Amino acid sequence: MLEHGGRLREAARQWNIPLADWLDLSTGIAPWSYPVQISADAWQRLPEDDDALVASAAAYYRHACHHTSPLPLPLPGSQAAIQWLPRLIAPGRVVLPANTYGEYAPAWRAAGHQVSTVPFAALLDKTLDAEVIMLANPNNPTGDCFAAAALAALANQQAQRGGWLIIDAAFGDAQPVQLPSSSSVILLHSLGKFFGLAGARVGFCCAPPTLQNALAAALGPWALANPSRQAAMQALSDTTWQAAQRQRLAEASTRLSGLLRQHELPNCIGGTLFCYAPTAQAATLHAHFAQRGILLRRFDHPPAVRFGLPGNASDWQRLEAALSEWNAP
Ligand SMILES: Cc1ncc(COP(=O)(O)O)c(C=O)c1O
Repeated sequence: MLEHGGRLREAARQWNIPLADWLDLSTGIAPWSYPVQISADAWQRLPEDDDALVASAAAYYRHACHHTSPLPLPLPGSQAAIQWLPRLIAPGRVVLPANTYGEYAPAWRAAGHQVSTVPFAALLDKTLDAEVIMLANPNNPTGDCFAAAALAALANQQAQRGGWLIIDAAFGDAQPVQLPSSSSVILLHSLGKFFGLAGARVGFCCAPPTLQNALAAALGPWALANPSRQAAMQALSDTTWQAAQRQRLAEASTRLSGLLRQHELPNCIGGTLFCYAPTAQAATLHAHFAQRGILLRRFDHPPAVRFGLPGNASDWQRLEAALSEWNAP
């Protein structure tokens, strides 16, 4: 099992602090979740794949993925596509960013692909020769992000060589970038981050029809639970909530990066849902916060910590107090 943020039970055991006392800043999940309402019959009835979920997703993502593709394919979390795509694409050379989501490389390797990594910016190097280029945009954990034009150029390059460009936009909702639509592009979306619905396990894949159909067949019937479909339909259709969430996240993100800079974590960079701070003191910084019941995500190669967003005034106070104690002589 790879390491992930959000493992509060493990932290509670390790640091001997009761579960309920933790402030979890170890993930990039929005601290405010979409207020889902589940009807009683959602638990009783089997999910029906001709409900309004796909139409809601197509409207929300504002594209039908790809001009010749079917509509977005619902996934039980975008993780499902991360694991299946390597098995549905013929083994070849795969290039990933050097510092990215930890699930990509093992999934490609397990399916017999040759994986190599390059610095995020070097993904745009025209001499890269790979059947698959896969990236998270914005990248997790570093927050690196390509603009629309760069992604379009990369998509064209992969189309010309008959390869794939897989763009994982799991963290892309807060500040959406226009994603390319080309026969070489596979897009992944998640409801876990911006909508704060990681527990519902809902994502989408947009890919050309043959691949998308193969993925649908691999997932089989009823891949998404009915309550999750209902939650997703509500969240994807509620544009008023989405606009308010964007605003809240932008404000919290500005506040977080300002606070970290003020407390001498000047390298703090990141997307809207987290701040990534490369620091040689990552291990002691992580322990300092954990002793105070605040869980950060720690990275060792290279050493860094990632801060998620506090969701209310008392959580901000706890974070500020722990940062002040870190700086205290
Ligand atoms: C970049 C990235 N993509 C995808 C996922 C998987 O998200 P989910 O399966 O909840 O959609 C994660 C989870 O942390 C992630 O960080």
